Amino acid sequence: MANSIHIILAPMHGYADALMRSTLLQIGGLDATMSEFVRITHTIHSPNVWHQKIPELQQQSTIPCAVQLLGSDALTMSENALIAVACGAKWIDVNFGCPAPTVNRHSGGAALLQYPQQIETIIKTLKERLPQNIRLTAKMRLGLSDTTPAIACAQAIERGGASAVTVHARTKDEAYLPPAHWEWFSHIQNSISIPVIANGDIFSVADFYRLIECFPTENIMLGRGMLMQPDLAKQIKASVSGKFVTPMNHDDIVQLLRDFFTQAQRQHEKYALSRIKQWLPLLAKNYPQIQSIIAPMRQITDAETMISFLNQC
Ligand SMILES: Cc1cc2nc3c(=O)[nH]c(=O)nc-3n(C[C@H](O)[C@H](O)[C@H](O)COP(=O)(O)O)c2cc1C
Repeated sequence: MANSIHIILAPMHGYADALMRSTLLQIGGLDATMSEFVRITHTIHSPNVWHQKIPELQQQSTIPCAVQLLGSDALTMSENALIAVACGAKWIDVNFGCPAPTVNRHSGGAALLQYPQQIETIIKTLKERLPQNIRLTAKMRLGLSDTTPAIACAQAIERGGASAVTVHARTKDEAYLPPAHWEWFSHIQNSISIPVIANGDIFSVADFYRLIECFPTENIMLGRGMLMQPDLAKQIKASVSGKFVTPMNHDDIVQLLRDFFTQAQRQHEKYALSRIKQWLPLLAKNYPQIQSIIAPMRQITDAETMISFLNQC
């Protein structure tokens, strides 16, 4: 039974942007976050791009935000990583799991799982070029259509010099179809000596306990579960240390949505409207009353109406 647990917020492109990361961090329970993947093609992104995508780099938070890179060319990736580090990054993660076809056409993300040698080269190049104090990790799926490459890829990540590997326990072709194959955490951990961070389908405190029955670990990454239940990390942490924390209820969630909307509005009205509407269906999975506000909220097209709607919820 785990008596301490380290919880990372999963990178979620289009969902876990800086505002969502800071919203979830404030609730508590998270030890680290990870940026949405940053695509690396031929361009060397300017400092402005890094600061805009990951404002945390300029903040002095004790909770680190890993910068996730997605690409296939080791040199361009390392050039970009060095700029991210100059902008304040303390932790670089490499994505070997993204299933999106546009990404895979350029041999980034999960496509690289076919080529453990290339994975090793990318990690090794980053390791050699980055300052020693920069944490380097990777995040992988189990394979493309089957799990054959899983062990070889995890070993390549270790040989390259990463200090941990997050495993999203599915193949690329499985996309997000349940179940995640948690038994693979042990298979992989038994073949490498760096820690495996367990990821996939941890949606509740009960799921967490089922996971550690299957794979006793102190390192987990939570993605969609945090969007469905924003205090999930806090609940897991409390439970592991034998404490009880009152779970967030419907009213707490509505207040969270009000605060989120107000913050988002500072960026742009359209952005705020789309982000809140996007989040609702996920929250509704855990807070059934939210279901009834999805349809009326979809009709709202301006911030003023949204605020008065949220005030009546
Ligand atoms: C909308 C969405 C966007 C995602 N974007 C990324 C990403 O940018 N980088 C990455 O490594 N994984 C990404 N993932 C995968 C998640 O990080 C995570 O591995 C996956 O959702 C399984 O964890 P969960 O069951 O806790 O959600 C994304 C997942 C979703 C649902």
